[in-house]
Amino acid sequence: MSAVNSKKLYIRTIGCQMNVYDTERMAMLLSRLRYRRTDRLESADLIVVNTCAIRAKAEQKVFSFLGRLARLKQNNPGLIIAAGGCVAQQEGARMLERAPYLDVVFGTHAIGRLARIIERVEKEKCRIVDIDMSAGVEEFDTIRNFRDDGQVTSFVTIMQGCDNYCTYCVVPHVRGPEASRHPEKIVAEIKDLVRSGIREVTLLGQNVNSYGQKEGWCDFAALLQQINRIDGLLRIRFTTSHPKDLSPELCRAFKNLDKLCHHIHLPVQSGSNRVLQRMNRKYTREQYLDKIEQLRSNCPDIAITSDFIIGFPGERQADFDQTLALIRQVAFDGIFAFKYSDRPSAPARQFQPKLPKELKNERLQILLDIQDEITLGRNQSLVGTVQQVLVEGHSKRNVKNDIDLSPNSLQWTGRTSTNKIVNFLLDGSSAKDSPAGALVRVEIEKALAHSLWGRPTGVDTTPTYLKGERSYAA
Ligand code: 5AD
Ligand code: SF4
Repeated sequence: MSAVNSKKLYIRTIGCQMNVYDTERMAMLLSRLRYRRTDRLESADLIVVNTCAIRAKAEQKVFSFLGRLARLKQNNPGLIIAAGGCVAQQEGARMLERAPYLDVVFGTHAIGRLARIIERVEKEKCRIVDIDMSAGVEEFDTIRNFRDDGQVTSFVTIMQGCDNYCTYCVVPHVRGPEASRHPEKIVAEIKDLVRSGIREVTLLGQNVNSYGQKEGWCDFAALLQQINRIDGLLRIRFTTSHPKDLSPELCRAFKNLDKLCHHIHLPVQSGSNRVLQRMNRKYTREQYLDKIEQLRSNCPDIAITSDFIIGFPGERQADFDQTLALIRQVAFDGIFAFKYSDRPSAPARQFQPKLPKELKNERLQILLDIQDEITLGRNQSLVGTVQQVLVEGHSKRNVKNDIDLSPNSLQWTGRTSTNKIVNFLLDGSSAKDSPAGALVRVEIEKALAHSLWGRPTGVDTTPTYLKGERSYAA
């Protein structure tokens, strides 16, 4: 297909990894209508905003981005603007009132219909709202996931929606009930991805630990076993896990499956049983700590990360102190912490008392300061060790000033099995004989706040684009 014939598509993704995956599917579907991706907003014929509703801040981001598009539409009336994802699902036709220059509002279950929707708008110059959620999970399988962009890692959504109804959360309302994809479809998609050069997959779901339970297919640990057998795949990751469903089989998988990375993201949200109950999390602090114990006894070097909500309605100083104590006790490798925000369809909106903004800010800062120290300490404990790093590509950022970058070297970046970012130099390497896709052994020399710095000592597998063997002995 000639580039002259193609139309330009700009997609802005806001939100979680699931949205990143959905964006790829949208781009693939729209390529059938001759749309090619562009990074330049001004040159687009079609702009898609993939929206997020998880917190008030994400939603504000959506409307402020949409605000920028009004002028573009004025200058180019033929421009088509579509909003999809969680805010679209939540707001439906109301979005057209707030952003009158929008042509399309499509919900979380309408992605499979996107090409047809856009085709109709092109032909009939109409406005379309499609927030029908009845199609379920089958629509996934109509889209083939194939990468030709030199990427090493890819997301693979294994289930949609959530049945847990945590009282603060909008997800069950905008992503619908939990539904798992068939294991054969997931394995087939990953095999396709591996053929296109992908070496690591991250399996996505709101609660992957309850995978297949409703449908009566295999459970999550058995799915991992099947994926572990795929030739050419080097690594498996997954997110997110709900602590209440973390099974002993899954804890053992970290010991038994060689491709399963030694990292788990296990959101706890709070260290106080009183708050956990009000959040409807269905586990206690003690049960959570017990799961951590089980994970560490199966896999001593496992990295554990978590999410926290600060300032949930009614959170007292004693509750917050319990959260800090839990952070110290577990010594997480990293955390995400969010100030509580009311969501329109979530019951905690009615809960009282709401905490003042200043108190939420203060508590958030205290918690982050404590965790920064713990994160750095954990990173420092790796100095002197040799880590196997899957090389993903060039580093985005330049090296810290105190490390020289010789003009003949490119700075490469990858991750350890424990999901820590490692940067290193390879003398004489260039983009042409890139080590991307290879497992390289790196001796860690320096720990920074959010990454590690090291020296390559050898290569364990042949990189995707490197022909033949090569030694990286320094
Ligand atoms: N306010 C603040 N944080 C929230 N999260 C989910 N809903 C809210 C909310 N209403 C956080 C939780 C979840 C992460 C994805 O977002 O910590 O694990
Ligand atoms: Fe939201 Fe709770 Fe479901 Fe996670 S488990 S998506 S926090 S309702």
